[in-house]
Amino acid sequence: MAKKRTLFECQSCGFQSPRWMGKCTSCNEWESMIELSSEQIKFLKETSSNSSTTVLSKAKPITQIEEDNITRFSSGSRELDLVLGGGIVPGSLTLIGGSPGVGKSTLLLKIAGNLARVSQKVLYVSGEESAGQIKLRANRLEANHDNLFLLPEINLSSVIAEINNQNYELIVIDSIQTLYSDETPSAPGSVTQVRTITFDLMRIAKSLHIPIFIIGHITKDGSIAGPRVLEHMVDTVLYFEGDTNSDLRLLRGFKNRFGATNEVGIFEMNKEGLNDAKSMAGKFFNKEKLQSGSALTVIMEGSRPIIIEVQALVSESYGHAKRSSTGFDNNRLGMLLALLEKKLDLPLGTYDVFINVSGGIKINDPSADLAVIAAILSSYRNRELSSETLFLGEVSLTGEIREVLGLSQRLKEIETQGFTKAVIPNKPMEKTKIKCFVADEVSKVVEWM
Ligand SMILES: Nc1ncnc2c1ncn2[C@@H]1O[C@H](COP(=O)(O)OP(=O)(O)OP(=O)(O)O)[C@@H](O)[C@H]1O
Ligand SMILES: [Mg+2]
Repeated sequence: MAKKRTLFECQSCGFQSPRWMGKCTSCNEWESMIELSSEQIKFLKETSSNSSTTVLSKAKPITQIEEDNITRFSSGSRELDLVLGGGIVPGSLTLIGGSPGVGKSTLLLKIAGNLARVSQKVLYVSGEESAGQIKLRANRLEANHDNLFLLPEINLSSVIAEINNQNYELIVIDSIQTLYSDETPSAPGSVTQVRTITFDLMRIAKSLHIPIFIIGHITKDGSIAGPRVLEHMVDTVLYFEGDTNSDLRLLRGFKNRFGATNEVGIFEMNKEGLNDAKSMAGKFFNKEKLQSGSALTVIMEGSRPIIIEVQALVSESYGHAKRSSTGFDNNRLGMLLALLEKKLDLPLGTYDVFINVSGGIKINDPSADLAVIAAILSSYRNRELSSETLFLGEVSLTGEIREVLGLSQRLKEIETQGFTKAVIPNKPMEKTKIKCFVADEVSKVVEWM
């Protein structure tokens, strides 16, 4: 009798193994391996043998190839256009991820409504909500238009049939995890399903030249649920960030085949939906209410300077000292604390230290290091910092404060927001009304505070 073949697949990264493992050796996820049924194994075998049939296309010298003409069109949202690198590219596949309730469906329904209004035919496929539910949201967002079509469907073949029957100019899939393909014998949301569906959607987008937006759920650790390959397959990956308690949402580019990923879109959630944030002024700080443990800095989000507040709480520890941060890298916090202990002789080893960045923003810009140090010192001494001063600088392991990029742009923003003083690592090249205190060493900042 022939031996039954077994195959296990990781539901996190798609790695396959003939043996079950408690921890995936590829992505280190625990308890993620599930056994594939005999039909699933047969399907995988068939698809892999199909892909290795005779090669029909021939390679050409690059000099003989005509480049694709990318003509972008606006999504009707200034912020989304900015993150996409100037607008929507026809034939592109964009994946938008974010935690539950952050506003993924809201944003895409709004965009669908915007485009329908400028006489583009849009299809909104939802596997999560009924047409009536979406209609309710559309009323709120003023997205009702004859050009916007709703399709509450979870079967991929019906979706494809609908796309082929009509000439849509934009398609939204809400969400990839709820769709399923008859051809794949696994449950919706499984690795094989998500991979097959994305591949089919990619083919449609490229062959019909229709831009497709896909919504993807994210896992606890913040990555798109499903195989990592999903991120590799699509052209653009955008992630929503933001605290659901605050009304600000940030849309950050993670990958973009048609533009840079350094831009961030900033939106405001209100009852009319997710709108472009009008002005960033004062959104991430409150000058009047600055208390001990708070320090202000200006970070660059793409090409825009944004003033934010960093808060620290340093309190005596009973037992093992805790270090925890929200919006700031925990390892970097550990490094800054070690530096303060070593260079300034602060006994922080016996204190708990908590860091929070206001507005749910996640700091990626190293120039915020100095503000974190200032906030820690201010909380440790229980002494308020001047609400007129901002702190800028990247701190090295030796305690030296390094130069920051775009200093003049940052100083201009500080001036526009009505601040008068700044602690900076190097002399500004251009003239400024801001009173600058140059500190190239951590110890010098302490003298000044
Ligand atoms: N009437 C309303 N007024 C103001 N804000 C609302 C209203 N209804 C919903 N919201 C906001 O919209 C959010 C839900 O947005 P949305 O459904 O687009 O999120 P989502 O990212 O698609 O979530 P999911 O992952 O569950 O699909 C709510 O968390 C809430 O903040
Ligand atoms: Mg949704």
